[in-house]
Amino acid sequence: MLARNDRGGYTVPTDRLYPFQWNWDSAFVAMSFATFDLDRAFAELERLAEGQWNDGMIPHIVFHAPSDDYFPGPAVWGTTHRVATSGITQPPVFGTALRHLHEAAMREGRTGLEEPTSALLGAALRSHRWWRKARDPDGLGLVAILHPWESGSDNSPAWDEALARVPTITTTVIRRKDTSHVDADMRPRDEDYGRFIHLVDLYRECGWDPAKQWATAPFKIADVQMTAILARATADLLPLAERFGTGAERDELVDGHGALTEGLDRRWRSDLARFVSLDLVSGEDVTAPTQAGFMPLVALRLDAERRAAIAAEFARWCEGVELGLPSTPSFWPAFEPRRYWRGPVWAVINWVVADGLRANGLGDLAASLEQGTVRAIERAGFCEYFDPTTGKGLGGEGFSWTAAAYLVLSGRRP
Ligand code: DGY
Repeated sequence: MLARNDRGGYTVPTDRLYPFQWNWDSAFVAMSFATFDLDRAFAELERLAEGQWNDGMIPHIVFHAPSDDYFPGPAVWGTTHRVATSGITQPPVFGTALRHLHEAAMREGRTGLEEPTSALLGAALRSHRWWRKARDPDGLGLVAILHPWESGSDNSPAWDEALARVPTITTTVIRRKDTSHVDADMRPRDEDYGRFIHLVDLYRECGWDPAKQWATAPFKIADVQMTAILARATADLLPLAERFGTGAERDELVDGHGALTEGLDRRWRSDLARFVSLDLVSGEDVTAPTQAGFMPLVALRLDAERRAAIAAEFARWCEGVELGLPSTPSFWPAFEPRRYWRGPVWAVINWVVADGLRANGLGDLAASLEQGTVRAIERAGFCEYFDPTTGKGLGGEGFSWTAAAYLVLSGRRP
């Protein structure tokens, strides 16, 4: 599957629905390449870093080669980087992937990878600096998304209230291509697309300047999923900075890690037994239950009380469904088992959540989540996501990151 989606040092998430390089998809894919081809794994991150902007942002799409199969393409984004890219970002799994590759190189006794590792560490450090400056200017210890696409969970119920405040009017003419590749009932609605593109139009009019976007954004959410991934990646960069970086870079990571983990820690809601994001426009907690509430496990070590509470909540979400973890639980009114991020199960989310459960001493839950994911992929194939009520495959087929999750998680078989 990875070979099929290889376009020359980078993979597309899937053939026609997503015909370019996507940011966090590539980070997961790089970790899976490291199970059998370390050079190819490094190439994946290097090609992603070709898209990195001068200010440090790593965009969510790098348009290495043209394709008519996707909307919105480079002309809609109107960015000016030397390689065409989108103008928004995606979860920074990059640093975690880099550590993973470096450790694989150490295990294999490979030499000659010091230079690429050090160059990629530089890219990761610049990206983390951008995150904290551009997306946490008020120093909350939480990084914000300005577009639902940045979260990777485009039409999650977590964004419903905030997105309802964004107009559906666009200057760009919307020509959706996704619904010609995948059933419309498995994709976001037209109304969602109106709001998604409204935000793109607005930020393009800001010239993609981070400060102007921050001042203008009608959608601004300090996201616990994003912050958890950044905090974890920050911790993962530390041993690399110790080996390849300077003392100042090390200190910067320690400082960033402290701020982000404290920020996350404050987002625990004991009444809900999970972590919640903060809507920076309304000042309200985002209480709609989504997978994001469990993601901080990957960055924090919880005390016994919180650990027991979140384990019970996790079990409640998995009760009565064929396959966990649903992106929205079946007891929630917005649950739609087939529609993109409103219920379906995602293999890479399970991978991260399992890592978080294990890191918090919940190894049995982690193993059952991993093995459930592996079995679902064996039954349904490398589809984009899965119906939690049936375990059936949904969305696009032939997905790189589902293959990546399979390679990594099946290797953990007891
Ligand atoms: C899409 O186009 O569906 C993507 O999720 C945006 O990144």
